[in-house]
This record gives sequence, C-alpha cells and structure tokens, in this order.
Amino acid sequence: EKGGYDYFMLKEIAEQPKAVADTLLGRIDAGGALLLDEVRIPAAELREVDKVVIVACGTAYHAGLIAKYAIEHWTRIPCETELASEFRYRDPILDHRTLVIAISQSGETMDTLMALRHAREQGARVLAICNTNGSTIPRESDAVLYTHAGPEVAVASTKAFLTQLVACYLVALYLGQVRGTKWGDEVRSVVHDLARIAREVEEVLETMEPVRELARSLADQNTVLFLGRHVGYPVALEGALKLKELAYMHAEGFAAGELKHGPIALIEKDVPVVVVVPSPRGRSVLHDKIVSNIQEIRARGARTIVIAERGDEAVRPYADHLVEIPVTPVLLQPLVATVPLQVFACELATARGNEVDQPRNLAKSVTVE
Ligand code: F6R
Repeated sequence: EKGGYDYFMLKEIAEQPKAVADTLLGRIDAGGALLLDEVRIPAAELREVDKVVIVACGTAYHAGLIAKYAIEHWTRIPCETELASEFRYRDPILDHRTLVIAISQSGETMDTLMALRHAREQGARVLAICNTNGSTIPRESDAVLYTHAGPEVAVASTKAFLTQLVACYLVALYLGQVRGTKWGDEVRSVVHDLARIAREVEEVLETMEPVRELARSLADQNTVLFLGRHVGYPVALEGALKLKELAYMHAEGFAAGELKHGPIALIEKDVPVVVVVPSPRGRSVLHDKIVSNIQEIRARGARTIVIAERGDEAVRPYADHLVEIPVTPVLLQPLVATVPLQVFACELATARGNEVDQPRNLAKSVTVE
C-alpha cells in the first residue's frame, strides 16, 4: 500500500505532480478561462464581495497565508488570513459581502469548523477548500472546491498542501475573472504557467538527493531557522512546521525583514538557516534585500541553505548549500519552493530515528478544539 516507499510520507511527496495536475484538471479551458461552475456561489454575489477572510489551521493556514498575496494582487479585494482557533474569539467583522474561505484537508478539523459556523451565523458566505468528499466542513459550507490530492495518510501534510495552493490560486483567478479585475496579460500568463507547474514539481523531485544528504548531515543540530519574504515567508513557516513535527527539532520561520528586529540575535556560528529567495525577476527589490539578509547572517557564522531560482547568480557566493528550483511566476513559487523543505524534514526525521508517518503526540485529524 506504500507503493514501494518506506513511508506514506515519501509516497505522498512523490505523488505531488499528479495531485497538482488532478486538482487543475477540467478547471481551465483551452482559452485560459477558469471553469469553476462547481463553486455554486452566483457570479452576482461574487461581484459583491468586499472582503475575503481565510480560516484554517497548521499547514492549511500556511496555504491561506500564501493565498492572501494572490487574492489581493489579482482581485484587489482586501483579504486576511487567520488561524481558525483564534477567529471567533475576537468578534470578527463579517457580513453578507464577506467571503470566508475555510481550508482543510480532512474536512473535520474542529477549530476550522467552529470558525466557519461562526462566519455563517454572521451572514458571511463560506467556501470550503477540502480534500475529503462529504466531510463535515464542506457539508456545512455554502460551496466547496475539492482538492484532488487523493487520500493523505501520513500525519504531516504534503500533497494536500500543494493542492490547497492550487485551489487557492484557482479561486483567486476565478474571482478576478468574474469581477473583471486585473484580467489581463499577467493573469493569462499565470494560467498558462499553472498548467506547466506539475512538470516543474516533478523536476524538483528529481533533484533532491543533495537535499537528503544535507539533511542527514544535520541530524545532530538542535535548531534550524527559516527565512523568507513575500510568499516565501509562509513557505519558511511551513518548512519550520514540518521540521518541528517530524524531526522534533527547534525550528522557526521568520519574515526576513524582521531579522533586525530581534531574531538576528539567534544567529551564531554554524546555525543552519534556510533562506527562501524570491525571484530576481518581478519584485527584484525583495530579491536584493534578501541577498543582503543572507550576507548579514553569513557574516555572523550561519550556515546558509539557500533555495533560489535556477540562474540566480547573485545568491551563489553566499550560499553554503544552494538548492535550485525552476523559474515560475512570483506568486506560484511556493509550489516548487516547499518541496525541498518537505524532503529535508522527512530525511532529517529518518536520520534521527523518528517515526515519519506517525509523529509523537499528533493526530491526522484534530476533531477537538
Ligand atoms: C501539518 C499538519 C497539520 C494540519 C492541520 C489542519 O503537517 O498536517 O498542521 O495541516 O491540523 O488539518 P486539516 O487540513 O485537515 O484541517
């Protein structure tokens, strides 16, 4: 049942290109238009939406953080992403023009369910992004967009995360399409690039041996830090979460711009720091800034593990380990940048003798608040 892999997690990491392709299947037509009639919220209502609020937990929350960048950029609708467990306790401002998106692999997470119930009581529309047919969260939502990752057995979420991202991009593009905002060449080219992304995830998977080797060499470390900016920041959070839950190591993700506001005090000799580098194209200001962050931490003795776009020569001199990922549009980079971090965490956990599929103290679906 593990298809020849030692762990379900390895199998599920390997299944990501298919999961991504399956989640896109039938949802984009040949002309690049989004076909999301299955989201049965009438277009007239979607045109009225004046705020999007995303609620989710854990890895799904990280997908939601990335979705915020895409939704605001492509639709110009204000969007906030909130931990489902915090949401209803702060008396959030919601009404019938609020679109709430609840993201959940299992569809049974109690915190997310309670958040969406609260949202509906306040009159908001709720769209679920879910991987489990007929589960409670989609049943209680106004609409659902299913991710097609297939069953995810390992407790640590991998393929579900990538498909949650794909679903979020589809929703963002669809909102843009329905509302006629930003529906120009940029969006068309993103749709085109989305169609190729499964192949790019595959390419990343084919080049992971050096990452595994690096992970094994770090098995005795106590701490690993992760830095990112823009959509790379939630990727850093996700890399740290994977390492915590699987390797039981102290791992923290930071927005690279926050370094000087505190976290840089943690940098000492030989601390491994994983840096997710934004594309040098597009928002190149961010790229320059992260290059100087890498220089700063390296000057303080950190061991830099740099995840950067292929052909990004500017980072090379400062990277103790360079992990190259394919060139993608800025907002889609998390689909390829997260994969090395999953492999890294899985291999480190194995090297430390941990149970990869069933980390201690964790359950696959958290049905208590
Ligand atoms: C991390 C992980 C958890 C889940 C979280 C939400 O690898 O698996 O953080 O992402 O418990 O679960 P779902 O998506 O089922 O609501």
